[in-house]
Amino acid sequence: MKKYFLHRVFRKIAVISALISPVMAMAQGSSGDAKMDAFVKQLMAKMTLDEKIGQLNLVTSGRALTGSVVNKGVEEGIKKGEIGGIFGVYGTDYIGKAQELAVKNSRLHIPLIFGLDVIHGHRTIFPIPLGMSATWDMGLIERSAKIAASEATGEGINWVFSPMVDIARDPRWGRISEGSGEDPYLGSMIAKAMVRGYQGTNMKNSDAVMACVKHFALYGGAEAGREYNTVDMSAIKMYQDYLPPYKAAVDAGAGSFMSSFNTINGVPATANQWLLTDLLRKQWGFKGFVVSDYTAVNELSAHGLGDLQTVSALALKAGLDMDMVGEGFLKTLKKSLKEKKVTQQEIDQACRRVLEAKYKLGLFDNPYKSINSEVEAKTELTEANRLAAREVAEHSFVLLKNKAQILPLKKSGTIALIGPLADNQSEMLGTWVIAGDPKKSVSVIDGVKKVAGSGVNVLYARGSNITDDSLLNARAWFFGMKQERDNRPAQQMIDEAVETANKADVVVAVVGESANMSGESASRSDINIPETQKELLKALFKTGKPIVLVLFNGRPLTLPWEDQHANAILDVWAPGTEAGNAIADVLFGNYNPSGKITVTFPKNVGQVPIYYNHKNTGRPFDDKGPAKFKSDYIDVSNAPLYPFGYGLSYTTFKYSDVKLSKSSLKGNQTLKATVTVTNSGNIDGEEIVQLYVSDPVASISRSVKELKHFKKISLKAGEQKEVSFDITANDLKFYNTRLKYDWEPGEFIIQIGTNSSDVQSASVHWSK
Ligand code: NOJ
Repeated sequence: MKKYFLHRVFRKIAVISALISPVMAMAQGSSGDAKMDAFVKQLMAKMTLDEKIGQLNLVTSGRALTGSVVNKGVEEGIKKGEIGGIFGVYGTDYIGKAQELAVKNSRLHIPLIFGLDVIHGHRTIFPIPLGMSATWDMGLIERSAKIAASEATGEGINWVFSPMVDIARDPRWGRISEGSGEDPYLGSMIAKAMVRGYQGTNMKNSDAVMACVKHFALYGGAEAGREYNTVDMSAIKMYQDYLPPYKAAVDAGAGSFMSSFNTINGVPATANQWLLTDLLRKQWGFKGFVVSDYTAVNELSAHGLGDLQTVSALALKAGLDMDMVGEGFLKTLKKSLKEKKVTQQEIDQACRRVLEAKYKLGLFDNPYKSINSEVEAKTELTEANRLAAREVAEHSFVLLKNKAQILPLKKSGTIALIGPLADNQSEMLGTWVIAGDPKKSVSVIDGVKKVAGSGVNVLYARGSNITDDSLLNARAWFFGMKQERDNRPAQQMIDEAVETANKADVVVAVVGESANMSGESASRSDINIPETQKELLKALFKTGKPIVLVLFNGRPLTLPWEDQHANAILDVWAPGTEAGNAIADVLFGNYNPSGKITVTFPKNVGQVPIYYNHKNTGRPFDDKGPAKFKSDYIDVSNAPLYPFGYGLSYTTFKYSDVKLSKSSLKGNQTLKATVTVTNSGNIDGEEIVQLYVSDPVASISRSVKELKHFKKISLKAGEQKEVSFDITANDLKFYNTRLKYDWEPGEFIIQIGTNSSDVQSASVHWSK
């Protein structure tokens, strides 16, 4: 009896100490990995102050330029131990030499870390992230990151500046293309999948890279969608809607974070102690390192926080560990230490975190682990990787309209391929492509000819340029990449296109945005298809031929007019290397589209920001028609053009009523919600079944609904399946006014459907 009692006491002590020891370890600056701690400690004991500050310095030598500043004297800097890492580089030749310089010629032989913007693939380019998110397929997303990691490590990279997990609800913001849309739950799932794909089970593996989660935080909340603009947001909104994907990435074990350019409620993220230390480390338990964005430390001066010395000290003290490009840390921290503006402990802490990252990557065991030219030659753009890119692209396309089942096209007759993106390779890859070779991408015309086979007569006319707006044309560029132009008069191109269309049975108009009309520094105040292309479309609609739009876009565009006139619209985002093949597969029905939009498409730009999980307001608009004194506009309805989660298929799916396993529950019980989904058409297809929860009465005004679960199922023609979801009290939780994450008893409405506005509902009572 006594023995049993003691046993229980000891077990309790063991449990308590297991719970508190990580916290204690963190407080003492230890990581929980005794071997690593000992290694880093002995190394730091040998380091001079200059060498420690050197580890905090991240430079670019301008090989793959992604900003406007290039560091000078990189070779000398490496030898002197003044550089901790280099980014914007790839290729074993350059990286091998730089690593050798660090390992052989610097005093302590500390290896460098090599970073790159590997955003949606390295050599094999996958769809832009917004497109990838439309797959709702975590397996495919993880696989794309794994392939990107294996190709990048083949070229010496060990650190990628991805995933970007910024929630965005304003399509004017160009970087909406780089994220996973507007929803925190889906965004969190994708953040985890990406981190798993990049880092694998052990970052020491030769084909794994360290992820860098960005941009911390709330960058997507920029006012008016204007790039780099101010973010001002309530705490509840921040915690409930914007922070979850960053937290999910921490939980998935992400090794590093990048601070964002914006201010958050007045304090720039890069010097924000609450954000970088209290929230990220103390509340969430993040143990990796934080790098600034490109010159973001220097930019603190423009934000109004002081001169370079002052802002560098502020950033370090806030919890920033590495300074990208700006050399503020390098140039001022020593002086600040002397003047007691920073402490030795603060410098040591940042240095330790950078060294730990190198340790976790296995660079101290083998600094050349991913620098192997034989591997480099073998891993690039293989047939298998191309096939994976084609599969992901097909799954990312969203069928927005398909009147009278014009799609899929028959593999016979005459098709006119028209539009500035129909015979183009460079625009297929989308924004943020550094190592991807446009010459290796498949154009739409090549894909269509190959997939359609000899039974189809394919005609082509360019029809227009992407834009004739001189400002837009001049501004939509990224380093080394501009739009190709045809210098013929616009009318001449349109006439040729109409003549071509008249000879065809069906017109496939390949139109939309160029790759660099979205992405960094590419916000737009007008999110229409450019006017020149609209003129082309007007002329094509007049021919009376059936028109299928294949739409390229890095953001939601305003498409009511196109929706009204086109017979079908297939949104292909920017599909990547296998663009043409994937598009043709879907156009001809080799793959039945299953993608669903992860961001709301507005009817016009005045509705922005527009998102499905909005509040009800005190004067909610209802669909009974326009009414005075309601929360609405007098010139457009509140409804979007296409709601979050929307996307059609070549078949149709019918949903039964929602069946709940119980009508009332208590505490930790689990509710099972079930629907029967029937493929009511005659083509096999996949459907993304979505579950939303509403909490109509609570201590704060809650969103009208929130996505809590989804399942992607496949159904043969005529087949039906029961789809069930387990719902627990965890799915009812929200941040209250004291920022406590909890649920409140009462009625909840469980909604299941094909998109956020087309759902079946049942209600349940849940008590504490
Ligand atoms: C600035 C961008 O905001 C960031 O996403 C990128 O990783 C860095 N430049 C490095 O290129």
